[in-house]
Amino acid sequence: MEQELQSLATEAKDGLHRLDDSHQLEDFRIRFLGRKGLFSTVMKKLGTASAEDRPRLGQLANSIKKEIEKLFEAKKSSLAASTPSNASGDLPDLTLPGRCPEGGKLHPVTQIMTETCEIFENLGFSVAEGPDVELDHYNFEALNIPAHHPARDMHDTFYISDSVLLRTHTSPMQARIMENQQPPLRVIAPGKVYRCDSDITHTPMFHQVEGFLVDKDISFADLKGILTVFTQKMFKKDLPLRFRPSFFPFTEPSAEVDIACVMCDGAGCRVCKKTGWLEILGSGMIDPEVFKMVGYDPEIYSGFAFGLGIERIAMLKYGIDDIRLFYENDQRFLSQF
Ligand code: FA5
Repeated sequence: MEQELQSLATEAKDGLHRLDDSHQLEDFRIRFLGRKGLFSTVMKKLGTASAEDRPRLGQLANSIKKEIEKLFEAKKSSLAASTPSNASGDLPDLTLPGRCPEGGKLHPVTQIMTETCEIFENLGFSVAEGPDVELDHYNFEALNIPAHHPARDMHDTFYISDSVLLRTHTSPMQARIMENQQPPLRVIAPGKVYRCDSDITHTPMFHQVEGFLVDKDISFADLKGILTVFTQKMFKKDLPLRFRPSFFPFTEPSAEVDIACVMCDGAGCRVCKKTGWLEILGSGMIDPEVFKMVGYDPEIYSGFAFGLGIERIAMLKYGIDDIRLFYENDQRFLSQF
């Protein structure tokens, strides 16, 4: 029995010495140190030894087992230190194809904004940008909307102080550009605007593209022509347009422009509020009062202006029935564009 124990010790030490990966280590543990392993089998045989030899053999078996367990732990640590720290302890399989990071995409509103600007740039308009935090003067006063004018109520303004606010439209850019440049002018001003407003066709922050053209002999027909070309190019088809008489203090006459609701083909649905039309912009001939405030002579110059709602165009182009989806940042929604 003593000899059997000694040769088991030698075999175990040799085996440990030859191990060089975590699988072999586990096989070793099961073979020698496991519940049904070789050491357990030898221990069970101790019961058959004579009462005289049993205590000595028991002590010897225990000390050999402890020694092997100690060597086993040392081997385990040294293997762990020299193995890459991935879950299985294996080397990575360099033949596997790489994992492709998902490509980013432009937000649908950015895509429509870019497309809108490109269409107008191709029609000869230049691009100007202005501040989101605006003076009351440019947002209202310079656009013929003095303090206490009822038209201010339509704007649901976020005020920062009495004279500073978040611009409610891109029209302040008309005054900013006209007071610094002389006609002829052909400008678009894209940007964010803010109103305290939220439902399926309104968000508190949205995008507009202001457009205005000032020259001699500009008429409403020019405005209609430019906007018709824009919708044809944007929607790639002849969508019915409707010019609806409206009122803006800075244009006279004024019109809001609707296009046939693409969600229901004009039949009437919840997006177009059963009218068959969806409003995409406000427009009109620039009011002579605005020209006077920037020092243009309204007897010489005339011009038109319009303010397009970019989210509304994106809704129509992509068939989206709730404008708020654009700002929920749901990847499942955004990755479709
Ligand atoms: C204006 O903002 C005028 N400044 C437009 C204008 C410019 C008229 C130049 C004349 C000359 P209005 O409030 O109607 O007008 O807004 C213009 C467009 O912005 C609307 O037709 C609509 O498409 C979009 N819009 C308005 N409010 C919201 C909102 N809360 N959320 C999303 N889009 C909106």
